[in-house]
Amino acid sequence: MCGIIGYVGFKEAAPVLLDGLRRLEYRGYDSAGLAVLGEQLEIRKKAGKIDEGLARLVQTAPPQGSNGIGHTRWATHGPPTDANSHPHTDASGRIVVVHNGVIENYALLKNRLQLAGHKFLSETDTEVLAHLIGWHYQARRGSSGDLHPLAQAVADALREVIGTYGIAVLCADHPGLIVGARRGSPLIVGLGQGEHFLASDSAALVAHTRDVIYLQDHDLVLLTPQRHEVHRLQGEASRVEISRLEFDTAAAERGAFPHFMLKEIFEQPQTVRNALRGRLDPEEATARFGGLNLSPGELREFDQVVMLACGTSWHAALLGEYLMEELAHLPVEVEYASEFRYRNAPINKHTLVLAITQSGETADTLAGLREARRRGHKVLSICNVVGSTIAREADGGIYLHAGPEIGVAATKTFTAQVTVLTLLAVLLGRMRMLGAAHARRLLAALEAIPAQMQTVLQLREQVRRIAHRFAQAEDFFFLGRQFNFPVALEGALKLKEISYIHAEGYPAAEMKHGPIAMIDERTPTVILAPHDSLYEKTVANLEEIKARRGPIIAIGTEGDTTLAQKADEVLLLPRAPECLWPLLAVLPLQLLAYDIAVARGCDVDKPRNLAKSVTVE
Ligand code: F6R
Repeated sequence: MCGIIGYVGFKEAAPVLLDGLRRLEYRGYDSAGLAVLGEQLEIRKKAGKIDEGLARLVQTAPPQGSNGIGHTRWATHGPPTDANSHPHTDASGRIVVVHNGVIENYALLKNRLQLAGHKFLSETDTEVLAHLIGWHYQARRGSSGDLHPLAQAVADALREVIGTYGIAVLCADHPGLIVGARRGSPLIVGLGQGEHFLASDSAALVAHTRDVIYLQDHDLVLLTPQRHEVHRLQGEASRVEISRLEFDTAAAERGAFPHFMLKEIFEQPQTVRNALRGRLDPEEATARFGGLNLSPGELREFDQVVMLACGTSWHAALLGEYLMEELAHLPVEVEYASEFRYRNAPINKHTLVLAITQSGETADTLAGLREARRRGHKVLSICNVVGSTIAREADGGIYLHAGPEIGVAATKTFTAQVTVLTLLAVLLGRMRMLGAAHARRLLAALEAIPAQMQTVLQLREQVRRIAHRFAQAEDFFFLGRQFNFPVALEGALKLKEISYIHAEGYPAAEMKHGPIAMIDERTPTVILAPHDSLYEKTVANLEEIKARRGPIIAIGTEGDTTLAQKADEVLLLPRAPECLWPLLAVLPLQLLAYDIAVARGCDVDKPRNLAKSVTVE
């Protein structure tokens, strides 16, 4: 959440920062700001999206200088106002800070500083950090040490801080220097020729350089045009490794699509292919992965799986539970990472823990991973962002290869996660009870999914029409059984996050235990009713809704003639094995959410109150 960009070099900093902020805007977009250090220190900041606020301000009064830091905000402390936007300054106005994360003890620190006469202009925790750095900077003045005085002040301040941070700091006394530090919030150094960059996300760097250093928690970095120095806040030796960014810049462009979300929905046949590439072993009727770092013997030893995730990734995990139980007969617990980390859940020692996350930076999933590793479990990540913190901290992992997902609502990463979980279930199943013939049929069906997705996407116009019919509804239900229950949850989440319609997902049979009281002629229900082993039971649930005058959008399989007689709208999808059909069924739900949100005039790619990567707890 929130984005940071820093530049020190020979170019004018403001355009570099603005460009970086635009690329980071999907991370948080309620306000933005920058500080540029040239002859003087100049700050511009404004509530609202970049192009409506900050960009205009910079155009009217461009700050001059080749050293600067910028920030795009997702509010934690204080509403999105100009005053609460970053950067924030210390009491002298000579030190500026941008910050991602949360300073948990900020109230205590603020109180102490106020007693010492400090006045604050915002409600943010970041301003408190800026003042604290300034206070240490003044206190250390004149004393000599190994570390640069600004870096020393930052280190001293951070030692007092409880919470998470990725920060970038400038000081008017030291032109040509940026100090950065991280704990729990990502920060990447970009290496250039005679210039350096600092960013919270590689998306802001790829236009400038592919050579990067992923900072570790407790790293402190000093950047000048010619030098980068990484120190450890806790005094140990730093481990600096230069990595190469693999990033297709075209993949981060919208192209002819009106929104990233629509582009990403339509990319799914390709992203599922990417997730499968090189991972099918038809001869052995199994799957293989390069980065698990576990021997077949170790994989065979596990007798339980725990999955940690949040949001859409949690829905993929839930589907993973059904898949692993069915294909590998393994008991699975799916945990909200935010709950798992504080619970004392008994987990037996032969448990494989999976951290499932698109961004690889979700604070709760990261904390859950650390807790599981602390307890001595092997943790594998299933992750999209290469080099992300979770991917690096896990014992091994599987990348989704879905390319950058810019739309805030996850779409293509969900289907890539499900694809990878299916492969993993086959791999674990083949070490247990899954027969070769069954596995081979399943893998062949999985390979056919991308082409079937293409067919499903041809329903776009039909979905759009349905979306217009129901766009003014204020409540929606999504129902599904078994493998389609997580899809129902995901359909409801997609709809509410981008259209702000209240939506709930339920196992179809659960409605009569309470939620059916909500059904009336204004409350549509989307029901997933494939021709599977529970078809008749699902249709009976559909009848129960219909009897209460609830409008029904049924999603079934081709050849079905019953649904058309009972539902108000029907979408028919190709046939697939029960456990794979969700990969098709989620597509019309994503499209429905998209088209309803567009019809309601919502900002699909940047829905209110949300941000792409949730790095606060
Ligand atoms: C919903 C959405 C969120 C994320 C959740 C976890 O569309 O994107 O619910 O799924 O914040 O994020 P990751 O997968 O990055 O851990």
